[in-house]
Amino acid sequence: MISKPKGTYDVLPEEVKSWTKLESTIRKICQIFNYREIRTPIFEASQTFHRDANDTSDMVTKETYDFKDRSDRLITLRPEGTAGTVRAYIENKLYAQNPIEKLFYMGPMFRYERPQKGRTRQFSQFGVEALGSNSPTIDAEVIALGATLIKALGLTNVKVKLNTLGDQESRQAYKKVLVEYFKNHTDELCSDCLNRLEKNPLRILDCKVDRDKEFFKNAPKINEYLTEGSKEHFNQVLTSLKDMNIAYEVDPSLVRGLDYYSHTVFELEVDIPEFGAQNVIGAGGRYDALVKDLGGPEIPGVGMAFGMERLLLACEYAGKKLATPDFVHVYFIALGEAAKQAALREMQVCRLGGLYCDMDHLGRGLKAQFKAADTNRAMFTCILGDNELKENKINIKDNTTDVQETISLFEIYPYVLNKINNNSACAKCKEKEVK
Ligand code: HAM
Repeated sequence: MISKPKGTYDVLPEEVKSWTKLESTIRKICQIFNYREIRTPIFEASQTFHRDANDTSDMVTKETYDFKDRSDRLITLRPEGTAGTVRAYIENKLYAQNPIEKLFYMGPMFRYERPQKGRTRQFSQFGVEALGSNSPTIDAEVIALGATLIKALGLTNVKVKLNTLGDQESRQAYKKVLVEYFKNHTDELCSDCLNRLEKNPLRILDCKVDRDKEFFKNAPKINEYLTEGSKEHFNQVLTSLKDMNIAYEVDPSLVRGLDYYSHTVFELEVDIPEFGAQNVIGAGGRYDALVKDLGGPEIPGVGMAFGMERLLLACEYAGKKLATPDFVHVYFIALGEAAKQAALREMQVCRLGGLYCDMDHLGRGLKAQFKAADTNRAMFTCILGDNELKENKINIKDNTTDVQETISLFEIYPYVLNKINNNSACAKCKEKEVK
């Protein structure tokens, strides 16, 4: 037997329903916020992600799936959506069409991480990227979009944490004091952090190994080194969030795991103990230099991405059902070959009219067919035997009321349609959906 690769999973038909519901909820919210969908390749030229030899983020240094294709091109499976989206934005000159381009995407990403609950090697992200504006209101809008999605999914135990990394000047000043501080603690730093001390000291603050140590907690915080402009930007983000009634918490130690951020950074954290370190369900920030770094004009951007598996898991833990169970409008039960052919014919009429229908294709007996009607959550069951067929009649049972009637074989479609329009859906199929 061949098994799936480590860190991957199958989405079975029962679970696909929650996925499609999540996707449609996301699409609706993106429409509400006026973000347009973009679809970029799952693999990109490696330099899309491996841009900078000084990039010390785990994602870029340790977790990418890199390979050479048959023509020796260096290829990377995308570990995230931002860089590919920005690459497409530049390559297709979207900036020339729209002064502000608000994009969203959904799809699989790949990171060679140690798999555990909520962390896999292939996972899906929903992300948004707003390109073209350096206004703090767009930072706040991106966070608002995330908060709105959380609300639409019925999740309540989610915290928005945010911080600012300031502009280049603020970070330069901050990096200097950080290096001085951590130089006095080199014997306590892990080997990765020693490397980060040279290349990107800010990244040290994101270390998962040293994070809980005392010297770590006492490290200087960025807010003391912000330029006036950076402070102003961040304060306006906070004011905008307040104006939109979005609760948040400023966390001065939040720096995020990717190297491209400047100014606002944020994470959406879910309070579910079983999630452990995977409690960050969505995160993002501003990246004012990325478009230029990828070879485009000087255009600022801000964005965010959610782990879709984590969103689904959070819904599951919170007892929020995303999708209504499947059902059919009509299940056809036929006894005998002639009846089966007639049922097939009438079922096609109903299907052409848009009704969800099914029938037995296994030659099962009456009892098993009734059971199949039940398993398929049939609103109506049509029963056709030779006697009914002779008279062009059919027995139809409304499974909500258990009332059975005999009607013309040729009137199933209008009969069911009329009942559905008058009674809405049957009780079995009316389990509450997330709005
Ligand atoms: P990120 O924090 O690396 O940011 O990932 C965003 C989210 O993807 C995480 O909060 C988490 O929910 C999910 N995620 C990440 N890795 C895994 C994994 N191995 N298994 C399951 N879920 C995972 C970014 O990717 C940035 N591109 C976000 C962004 C967009 N910043 C600006 N624009």
